[in-house]
Amino acid sequence: MDAVEAILSRRSIRKYTSQKISSDLVEELIKAATAAPSANNSQPWHFVIINERQILDSIPEFHPYSSMLYFAPLAIAVCGDSQASSSYWVQDCSAATENILLAAHARGLGAVWLGIYPIKQRVQSLRELLALPENIIPLSLISLGYPAVSKTPENRLNPARVHFNRW
Ligand SMILES: Cc1cc2nc3c(=O)[nH]c(=O)nc-3n(C[C@H](O)[C@H](O)[C@H](O)COP(=O)(O)O)c2cc1C
Repeated sequence: MDAVEAILSRRSIRKYTSQKISSDLVEELIKAATAAPSANNSQPWHFVIINERQILDSIPEFHPYSSMLYFAPLAIAVCGDSQASSSYWVQDCSAATENILLAAHARGLGAVWLGIYPIKQRVQSLRELLALPENIIPLSLISLGYPAVSKTPENRLNPARVHFNRW
């Protein structure tokens, strides 16, 4: 699958088979994340790979839109270092998150971005659950697994949202 095909066909996948994800594939996803651009090349990201059932199952207790985690074999928390980075850590970690979604899709996995930051209660609950240091802020959680459903691409190109030279 080439890059544009992966971008245009990616969808959020919230139903998974019971198949585990190999550690080599997880490593490839993290490598894809770290290939993202970052302001001043500051690379302010940290990744927490979660495959313990007890941890995955406790996330829906505080995150209302994360029930797919009961069936996901793995999740990755993308976190930013608020001390080490410039003021662009949100953009940097968002780019890393999207790279994981695209790499996962290109490798036949299904994934969905679960919003954490800037919802204070989700940030705090995930910080406690994952024992994150104070300077580390969880931006997103990515639920991953082999897809049990397939979704068709959506064409969202709306010419009314595209402006040439002036609005
Ligand atoms: C910042 C952000 C937060 C999101 N949070 C959630 C979430 O908490 N739970 C969920 O099921 N999907 C979440 N999504 C996925 C969106 O619902 C999804 O991307 C959108 O409906 C478009 O569908 P698609 O990804 O299949 O193209 C989030 C996406 C983004 C970018």
